[in-house]
Amino acid sequence: MADAIPTNTTHQGSNEKTNHEDDFKVTPWEVEGEIDYNKLIEQFGTQTITQAIIDKVKRITGDVHPLLKLQYFFSHRDFDWILNKYENDEKFYLYTGRGPSGMVHMGHLLPWLFTKYLQDKFGSNLIFQLTDDEKFLYGQDKTREEIKLYTYENILDIIAIGFDPKKTRIIVDTKHIKYLYPLAIEIAKKTTFSTAKAVFGFSNSTNIGMIGFPPIQAAPCFLPSIIEGKPTPVLIPAAIDQDPYWRMTRDISERMGYYKPAQIHSKFLPGIGISGKMSSSKPETALFASDEPETIDKKVSAAFTGGQATVRLQRMLGGNAIGCPVFWHLRYFFDTEKQSDERLIRCKSGNLLCGECKGDLAKESKSFIIEFKKRREKAKDIIADFMYDRENYESD
Ligand code: TYM
Repeated sequence: MADAIPTNTTHQGSNEKTNHEDDFKVTPWEVEGEIDYNKLIEQFGTQTITQAIIDKVKRITGDVHPLLKLQYFFSHRDFDWILNKYENDEKFYLYTGRGPSGMVHMGHLLPWLFTKYLQDKFGSNLIFQLTDDEKFLYGQDKTREEIKLYTYENILDIIAIGFDPKKTRIIVDTKHIKYLYPLAIEIAKKTTFSTAKAVFGFSNSTNIGMIGFPPIQAAPCFLPSIIEGKPTPVLIPAAIDQDPYWRMTRDISERMGYYKPAQIHSKFLPGIGISGKMSSSKPETALFASDEPETIDKKVSAAFTGGQATVRLQRMLGGNAIGCPVFWHLRYFFDTEKQSDERLIRCKSGNLLCGECKGDLAKESKSFIIEFKKRREKAKDIIADFMYDRENYESD
C-alpha cells in the first residue's frame, strides 16, 4: 500500500503538477515554493536512497527506522560508503546541528530523533553544533543576548532527545571557537570567494561575517579526525537545506587529508497551513515543542486538510490525504505504517472525516510535548555532561 504514496510530494495542497513546478528555492536560509524532491536530487547532484541501501541498514542493525522506510530521508552522499566502512570495522561519527534563533518546532526534532536512532544502532559518537554566530550574522532582528537565551533553550531540547551523554558533545560556536578555528582557517584558505558565491548565492550586499561563516560549519566535519588522531568517517543527518555546506566541504576534504563527510538528507516537515515547510517565521502553522496544550488544540483545529468543503461531499468524494499536512504529520510522527495506510484508504473512500484526524494529531502532539517538556526540565541538571569542554565546563 505504501508504494502507492508518491515520494516526491510537498505534502500539502494539490499534488497535481503545475506550470510552476520548477519554481522552488532551497538554501540553508530560505526554503520557498512547491519542492519537487526528485528535481532537487538532480539540482544538488545527490543520490537517491535505494532499497538496496535500506536493506543493508536492516541487515546491519536488524531494523529500519520508519523515517528511512517511508523515504522521509530520501537522499544521500556516500551513505553506502559509510555502511561499507562500518562493516569493515571502521566506526563513524555523527555530526548535526542547530542555528539557535528561536524555540524548536516539530520539524527540527525529526532529524534529531533520527540521529538518536543512528547513535543507538551504530554506537556512534555525535558532535552537535550550535551556530549562534550564524544566527546573529544572518538577518537584522536578533541581538546577541536573544541568541544566547535560545542557545540555552535549544541545548535543553537537544538533551531532551535522549542522546547518550558519554557519546555526545555539544559545541557552541562562540564558546568553543578555539576547537573550530584552526580547522576553519585551513578550510577558508582553500575556498575561493567565487566558490562561496556559487554555492551559497552571496552577493555584494551580504555582510562579510556571513561570507566568512561557512568554514565554521564545515569544521566539525574534521574534528573527529583530530579527536581520533586519524582520518575518521563522518555522517551528517539533516534536512536537505544544509547540503550547500557539505558540497563546499567535500570539495576540499581530500586536499586536507580527511574523508569527505557523508550525508543523509531528509525532506521538510510541512507546516499545518496550506503550503510551505514548518517554519518559525509562520508560528500559527508550526507546532513548537514549547507550545501549551491549548495552543496545540487551537493550531490543529485551524489546520489545512485535504478534506472536502462539507461532510456530505467528503462522504461522497473522499478526501485528498496526500495533499494533507495533518495526514503527513501523523504518518511521520505518530501512526504506524499500517495505521497510516488504513487512514489513507478510509480518507480516500470518504469514511474518515478531517475532525477525526485533527483530533488524533492534537492528542498525540500534546502527549509527546508534555513528555518532552519533562525531559527538558531534567536536562537542566546535566548540561555540563554534554558540553564539548565538559572536563572544564563553566556555565555563563
Ligand atoms: P536550523 O536550526 O535551521 O535547523 C536545524 C535542523 O532542522 C532541519 N530543519 C527541518 N527539518 C525538517 N523539517 C523542517 N521544516 C525543518 N526546518 C529545519 C535542518 O535541516 C537542520 O537539520 N546552520 C544550521 C545549524 C547546523 C547544522 C550543522 C545543521 C550547524 N551544523 C550540521 C545540520 C547539520 C541551522 O541553522 O539549522
